[in-house]
Amino acid sequence: MEKLAVLGCGVVGSGVVELFEKNKNLIEKRCGKTLEMGYILDLRDFPDKPYANKLVKNIEIILNDPEVTVVAECMGGVEPAFTFVKSCLEHGKSVATSNKELVASKGDILLQTAKENHCNFFFEASVGGAIPIIRPLHKCLIANEFSAIAGILNGTTNFILNKMITADMDFATALALAQEKGYAEKDPTADVEGHDACRKICILSSLAFGKHVYPESVYTKGIREVELKDTKLCEKLGYAIKLIARVQMLDNHKILPTVMPMAVENDNLLSDVNGVYNAVMVRGDGIGKAMFYGRGAGKFPTASAVLGDMIEEVQLSDTIPAQTWENVGNTDFIEDVSKFTAKYYFRTTSADVNLLSEVFGEIASQTISTDEEELVFVTEHALNRMELETAVKTLAQKGVQVLAQYPILVA
Ligand code: HSE
Repeated sequence: MEKLAVLGCGVVGSGVVELFEKNKNLIEKRCGKTLEMGYILDLRDFPDKPYANKLVKNIEIILNDPEVTVVAECMGGVEPAFTFVKSCLEHGKSVATSNKELVASKGDILLQTAKENHCNFFFEASVGGAIPIIRPLHKCLIANEFSAIAGILNGTTNFILNKMITADMDFATALALAQEKGYAEKDPTADVEGHDACRKICILSSLAFGKHVYPESVYTKGIREVELKDTKLCEKLGYAIKLIARVQMLDNHKILPTVMPMAVENDNLLSDVNGVYNAVMVRGDGIGKAMFYGRGAGKFPTASAVLGDMIEEVQLSDTIPAQTWENVGNTDFIEDVSKFTAKYYFRTTSADVNLLSEVFGEIASQTISTDEEELVFVTEHALNRMELETAVKTLAQKGVQVLAQYPILVA
């Protein structure tokens, strides 16, 4: 018999306990082991819950029980999660976590600690909730050289943008609805400013390219400034504005990770990912393109991913080599965002196509003039950031303001 433990009895932690108890027989049959939920660590008491007798308040109880072989960390935040997870690994106990902040900031250290102690640190639930993406990247797709990953990795912002497009809600109203439905936190900063998606693309980039990408190295722009007007005008041009987390391998073999709202053409599957759903597109030299889609958050979808990791960890007798990355001590392998290049959607205060063509070269034939004498168009040519800044300055000198700009996603 082996014991499991869960750190944190919040939404995800309680989901792990409940799903395990519900499917215990099936799980034991599938993994060929007798398992028991040994402990749940939380400072709170839950006297009415069926698992009340498993609650403990001291991590030492879990660390010092040799029967506990696998631990789920569902506390969130960096501390005390980092200290507890590291201690578990140092005691030879494998850990599965849903905590993207922990993996994005401390993944290199925890993976190394797991290796030194012949156990595993898994984090399938940290990106895309229920969507299998971590395991496919280092297992099924292990033979590929990756050239790009692009995804909708934050359900809250996707819900908000979707409501703006389909229900004519402005940002503030859509955010209030997301909070009412329990998708967005009371303080929605991490979601709407793109920090959550940033942590997730850090994890995917680190895994795909083998070097730890820290959140500080990722150009990150959230959706707070997205105007209802642009979601509607973009739609008319055949695009949906989405918060896209993306990493590209450039020709110089540097990677460029970014998080920003982008205009996604309607024939791209990502444009049709709606509500709180997530999707990830992976490009590799063997597969071409593969797409992963599903529920990106929620109690049982996330618990399902955590338990999937725990069940695999129970069956492993040593660290698996493929799911890892290293801290190379510099960011030389990450390209500066100034090299970011894309075609752009623009909304300007001038409807003078000739003048705009002088600045941008050709502009796509499809343009929309609005009642306010503004022009909305997509450039025919891709611009890098310096060309973009120069164009905006040149227009300003001619008395024309750029009111909105969104890069067009090529994925
Ligand atoms: N706040 C996150 C989201 C939860 O909205 O996607 C899952 O990581």
